[in-house]
Amino acid sequence: MRGDADPSLYARIRQAAEAEHAGVRARIRDGTLDKEAFLAELRRAPLEIRDHLVEEILDVAYPPFGDRGHTPSGLAEILFTLDNAGLGPGKTFVDLGAGLGKVAMLVALLSGARAIGVELDAHLVAHARAASRALGLDGVELVEGDLRDVALPPADVYYMYIPFAGSAAVVERLAPIAAERDIVLFSQPLDGARFPWLEARGTASYWLEIYESRLTGDRLVTY
Ligand SMILES: C[S@@+](CC[C@H](N)C(=O)[O-])C[C@H]1O[C@@H](n2cnc3c(N)ncnc32)[C@H](O)[C@@H]1O
Repeated sequence: MRGDADPSLYARIRQAAEAEHAGVRARIRDGTLDKEAFLAELRRAPLEIRDHLVEEILDVAYPPFGDRGHTPSGLAEILFTLDNAGLGPGKTFVDLGAGLGKVAMLVALLSGARAIGVELDAHLVAHARAASRALGLDGVELVEGDLRDVALPPADVYYMYIPFAGSAAVVERLAPIAAERDIVLFSQPLDGARFPWLEARGTASYWLEIYESRLTGDRLVTY
């Protein structure tokens, strides 16, 4: 199906969406967006359209979606993360497998945290960089790389939506970072026996658990 997509059709739909959302996009760009009102509007929007709405606003709604395609987080998971991550200016968030940057852009926009997305697919990275730049989201950084071997950015909060091949090994790669600073990981449920240094907080959304690391100071676990 992707091979059959008509690029000019999508270009026209994107242009129409950009015109439709020009007002809110301009407010994001010039820093005058009323974030509370924006969030309230998203929460009020019918469930079946609000993800598409926010993806249009961010300009990540239409193909081409890169070589592998991707499955973006639902707004429900992003709002859950914003409500529970303790993010704000001075904090750093990393999306492990960032896709088109939907999560990173919304986290930076709505929390003021620095948001880094690491993504394997160069096409997704290019699109996400262009989309965040067009909105003037300076707090967003997209890193192209394979999470299985790229240097992982130190951060307060990590996010991994939908496990991928090798993603458990990626979680293991967070341990040296967690030995230096406490971290929080939002991810789908993990094998507790494999990660005894991660403790589930006990609050979960439909798709995401919250894990806190226990490798520093009096939180140290012994094996
Ligand atoms: C389910 S999508 C999630 C996208 C985004 N985090 C979100 O929630 O909207 C997972 C992403 O992980 C990327 N990915 C898979 N394996 C990866 C790897 N080894 N290194 C970096 N990114 C990877 C995929 O290309 C895809 O874009």
